Amino acid sequence: MSPRDTHGLGYQRVDDDQNVAVLIGTMDATARWDATIELRAWERRHLCLVDGERLLDVGCGLGEAALTLAEDLGTMGEVVGIDASTSMLRVANERATGAVCPVRFSVGDALALDEPDRSFDAARSERTLQWLTDPQTAVDELARVLRPGGRISLIDTDWSTLRLDVGDNMVAARVRETMCSERDRPSNVGSRLGELVRTAGFEALQEAEATQV
Ligand SMILES: C[S@@+](CC[C@H](N)C(=O)[O-])C[C@H]1O[C@@H](n2cnc3c(N)ncnc32)[C@H](O)[C@@H]1O
Repeated sequence: MSPRDTHGLGYQRVDDDQNVAVLIGTMDATARWDATIELRAWERRHLCLVDGERLLDVGCGLGEAALTLAEDLGTMGEVVGIDASTSMLRVANERATGAVCPVRFSVGDALALDEPDRSFDAARSERTLQWLTDPQTAVDELARVLRPGGRISLIDTDWSTLRLDVGDNMVAARVRETMCSERDRPSNVGSRLGELVRTAGFEALQEAEATQV
């Protein structure tokens, strides 16, 4: 494969992309966005994790969000992070040293989790559904591994709301269209999270949104 073939694979196949360092750097940069900070803080308040619980993060990337939530699980809790990319997980494992509870970051597929039924108290997935061919299957998998009464948290983007101020409306429209259609990804999944979790059987939903400028 040449760099031309793999350029722009994005987060579908991080390890095959010629720009892995850029993809990792982008995750660190976007973790500092106001919208990311706001939504993760909202999630933390609403997940209400307590000592001894088990948390699953699917598409955990660099593990930052999971490691912050680990602080709420006490020494008896556990965090499991699953990601398709060994490059992402290498960084996540480096950052996991010193976590308050046991942490396992390992390779896996969001569409077919290698975890037992009903084995987690809470599960999350952030900005990963938009890279999957079938987000509903991934949410169904999260539901399968949660215990009855378990909590799910999804954070994702609705790229159809992207606005570009580049001084040329035609150029802005073309860029926006490309962002939404590239790699056949479900780019408006952020607007469908409620529908996905209801279909998977969840009730008592709470929703929040944030805009990144
Ligand atoms: C945009 S990153 C988000 C990472 C992290 N959740 C965050 O918000 O910082 C998307 C992540 O999903 C992972 N990913 C993509 N497809 C996946 C799949 N089928 N199964 C598991 N992880 C996947 C990628 O490797 C990448 O780490």
